[in-house]
Amino acid sequence: MKYIGGFFELEIPQGAGPLHRDAIELNTGRACLSLIFQAQKPKRLHLPFYMCNAVLEAVAAAGVTVVFYGLDSKLELLTRPALSDGDMLLVVNYFGLQSSYTGRIAREFGHRCIIDNTQAFFESPAPECFTIYSARKFLGVADGAYLYAPRHLAIEPFPLRRNAPDVRHLVNRLAGRQQTAYRQCRAYEAEMTSSVRKMSLLSERLLSTYDYKQISLQRRQNYLALHQHFVDRNEFEIHLEATATPMCYPLLLPELIDRTSLAKRGLYIPTLWQDVIERQGFGFELDRSLASRLLPLPIDQRYGIADMHDLISRFG
Ligand SMILES: Cc1ncc(COP(=O)(O)O)c(C=O)c1O
Repeated sequence: MKYIGGFFELEIPQGAGPLHRDAIELNTGRACLSLIFQAQKPKRLHLPFYMCNAVLEAVAAAGVTVVFYGLDSKLELLTRPALSDGDMLLVVNYFGLQSSYTGRIAREFGHRCIIDNTQAFFESPAPECFTIYSARKFLGVADGAYLYAPRHLAIEPFPLRRNAPDVRHLVNRLAGRQQTAYRQCRAYEAEMTSSVRKMSLLSERLLSTYDYKQISLQRRQNYLALHQHFVDRNEFEIHLEATATPMCYPLLLPELIDRTSLAKRGLYIPTLWQDVIERQGFGFELDRSLASRLLPLPIDQRYGIADMHDLISRFG
């Protein structure tokens, strides 16, 4: 029964609709993986070593064995894996800058392949294979993920909707309480699991309101402003494709940059990923070196060209 009258709920104006209209709406990227595993029942998943532990844990929790592969300096597969029966391959579109490459891989491996577009929210899905997205790496929402499959997936019963998510970190960041928000964000992320839920109603509504064209434009402009400045020093071989919307500007300098001193100047650059640097075992030197040296500089829609110049000046 619909309640009529009384106080207002948090009111989110109607927007033009979500960017991913034909996808299965879930809560996290990990939930998308869990559903793929339920449908395909793989025994092993070939995964890049350059990947956070959160995903490895979700894969292990599904009883799927992880087989690591290495990347070359363009962040492409070092060698083509020979897939055995029961194997799947996951390929990440790093920073949203590898769309041609991930498209080629999708065509080559078809339904045995998962394109991980969690860093490429604006990219179209590859029709040949599974494609996953996670909204909160691009937008100010607490949850929200999209899954595309190469065939109809009979998901019975459909997962329950996620309860109203904890948004204290988002609200406190908005209110300027940065330290509190940072602590709350870390705690929130640490509690996330691969449990499969439908996207929260709050995120579903919010994701219908964004001006995605404008966001894409803003990100591209900011990216190009940084590239103009860093192009001669950046060792990372990158090219911003005509339709790409990047997650960040990946800067790879010959010297190791002290992130703590940048943070003291109000410039917060995460490490993608500390897990990779600390992971036990031999090999994968290039992947580990990337994780410690690569600086994913922010270029998102909160910022404009003046902010990019400010960012550059804080490098000293
Ligand atoms: C490359 C990559 N893929 C997938 C995921 C999983 O996304 P989510 O945190 O929404 O589960 C993450 C982050 O955890 C990630 O970094």
